[in-house]
Amino acid sequence: MISYKELGLVNTKEMFAKAIEGGYAIPAFNFNNMEQLQAIIQAAAETKSPVILQVSKGARQYANQTLLRYMAEGAVEFAKELGWANPQIVLHLDHGDSFETCKSCIDMGFSSVMIDGSHLDYEDNVALTKKVVEYAHQFDVTVEGELGVLAGVEDEVSSDHHTYTKPEEVVDFVTRTGCDSLAISIGTSHGAYKFTPEQCTVDPETGLLVPPMLAFDVLEGVERELPGFPIVLHGSSSVPQEEVETINKYGGALKAAIGIPEPWLRKAAESAVCKINIDSDSRLAMTAAIREVFATKPAEFDPRKYLGPARDNMKKQYIHKIVNVLGSNGHAE
Ligand code: G3H
Ligand code: 13P
Ligand code: ZN
Repeated sequence: MISYKELGLVNTKEMFAKAIEGGYAIPAFNFNNMEQLQAIIQAAAETKSPVILQVSKGARQYANQTLLRYMAEGAVEFAKELGWANPQIVLHLDHGDSFETCKSCIDMGFSSVMIDGSHLDYEDNVALTKKVVEYAHQFDVTVEGELGVLAGVEDEVSSDHHTYTKPEEVVDFVTRTGCDSLAISIGTSHGAYKFTPEQCTVDPETGLLVPPMLAFDVLEGVERELPGFPIVLHGSSSVPQEEVETINKYGGALKAAIGIPEPWLRKAAESAVCKINIDSDSRLAMTAAIREVFATKPAEFDPRKYLGPARDNMKKQYIHKIVNVLGSNGHAE
């Protein structure tokens, strides 16, 4: 058993309380490899933003849970080396699917876990989340639960439509489980294809597709029921069209990839939403930069010559999210 405290990591408690109070949100960026982690830490250190490093099931399978944990420990020291005196870094399990997975992450030094029981019956979700909370809280590890189902693929379960969170259930769920934050469903979804063109309208000025509005009324209902309680938004990539265009220009084939408009995320960040999950946008930034090098410098074969630009492009994007969308810069001096 290793406590995250020995690794210089923090849990989400104080971070979320400050974020709600200050009207901003903490970025929760997924990482699977060194370049993503370097870019996240460089961006957070430069902007003095608290940050959540998220490890998904896919990341654990791809890179190994133990290695990712040691990388996060290294990230704390890297942040200090970059001049960030007091790094506020959370290591979080994204979409934990069982008590055993959550326990194994807690035991090896994660400071926060999500138990995603959103596809279970309500009572089974309550029971599983409560069991994880009881274990996690013994070690001061914070727990994110989820109510409502996002459309698309979530935790290997696929749904072709959203089941929005029911505001009338949230007080019962939070009280009975003791969870520290709650992920809700208000129309966001995972991946780069969040909406079909048919679901969108065309902006007459820009010609760009505008997705259907998120269910802010559901968010307001949840806030009324649970004043001051930390809310989480998954599936919050914006799918920047310039990255999609670069990918397609250099041989990619991404068709009608549509994300969540940034002003909507800004609006959410000003509410009780204090954790915003972003993964797909970083994948797009990485792929765009790598494709450009491959297409414009076909003789290049040193991985540092394409992973380096990929890292720079991700860092630029992370800084943009922190400063212009979530507003978390300057909140971890
Ligand atoms: O929640 C989904 C995240 O984007 C992680 O996806 O399991 O493919 O790493 P992944
Ligand atoms: P995106 O696919 O929109 O980046 O969402 C990521 C996420 O919610 C991770 O849990
Ligand atoms: Zn998610």
